[in-house]
Amino acid sequence: MTQQTNETVQALIWTGSSLKVLDQRKLPDTIIYDEYQDAGGVTEAIASMRVRGAPAIGIAAAYGVALSVSQHHVNDAVDWQAQVSKDIALLAQSRPTAVNLFWALAQMEALLAQKLDDPKAEFIAAAEQIHADDIAANIKMGEMGADLLAGSKGLMTHCNTGTLATGGYGTALGVIRSATKRQAVNVYAGETRPWLQGARLTVWELAQDGIPVTLVADSAAAWLMKSGAIDWVIVGADRIAANGDTANKIGTYSLAVLAKHHGVKLMVVAPTTTIDWGIESGSEIEIEQRDPKELLPVCYDHEGSLVTAWNPVFDVTPAELIAAIVTERGVVLNPSIETMRTIKDAI
Ligand code: MRU
Repeated sequence: MTQQTNETVQALIWTGSSLKVLDQRKLPDTIIYDEYQDAGGVTEAIASMRVRGAPAIGIAAAYGVALSVSQHHVNDAVDWQAQVSKDIALLAQSRPTAVNLFWALAQMEALLAQKLDDPKAEFIAAAEQIHADDIAANIKMGEMGADLLAGSKGLMTHCNTGTLATGGYGTALGVIRSATKRQAVNVYAGETRPWLQGARLTVWELAQDGIPVTLVADSAAAWLMKSGAIDWVIVGADRIAANGDTANKIGTYSLAVLAKHHGVKLMVVAPTTTIDWGIESGSEIEIEQRDPKELLPVCYDHEGSLVTAWNPVFDVTPAELIAAIVTERGVVLNPSIETMRTIKDAI
């Protein structure tokens, strides 16, 4: 059974036989869930960003595999695994950067190789476990991250890393939630252009939780830091390389450079399911490019237009700009290939 946190709106609801996905494209104006019965639908929900955020994408994919097993084991009790493998390959095509997706699919694929008495029940249980483990990791990281913030007066975050982006509670937003329970602190959220995860999702989520927040244009970050209002920038991650280089929402690298210049510290908060131990540095991370239409004014979106748009939706922040990476296995200060090993070897 998935552990519930005190927030009311969940990104994903498993009904027992289907997956309800909150359509985050419509927030904050409309709260509407779409219901999926198969892996193809879940793939589309991830690709279209109804569900987004690295941990939430991984959890949705795990439920997608459970739906695939439910469907194919009933139809073909002998050769269902081949159909499920196809669905796993389909889900893997949904988005390229967040490694949680591939981690979750690998967990489910490993189960596929085992001899199971009741495949449907066991795949559902595995997906529910991935969901519950993510919430537990977030609550732990919230406390560990908040420990680093004693005496801080101002925090800035980017993108949305809360309940909407995870199984519940959030990564960077989980740290902010935990910190605000302990001390008075001003919270600033960047808009996060072009998709506006900050303006549409983060400020809404914090307000729902009764946490005051100030929205700033992304381009106001340098001036805000110059004013002395910020001690820490706190962000999540989509993929962390073995040396601590971190891919996260486009604009994170800009904030990291600005933070260094202004003596502000950068904290990355992510479960170990976001670490890709198979890559040595961030240069190996595929950065998703999305449709220029997400950025381009409509009047330029036509054949022969002289105006086009470049729309990478993630960037990579080098480890040397990061003060701390907080995971459920512990905190890595000054991340590097050597310091990161301490959490690789932890249980
Ligand atoms: O394109 P998105 O909205 O899926 O990007 C999300 C982010 O970049 C988040 O910061 C990251 O996934 C961490 S979420 C806990």
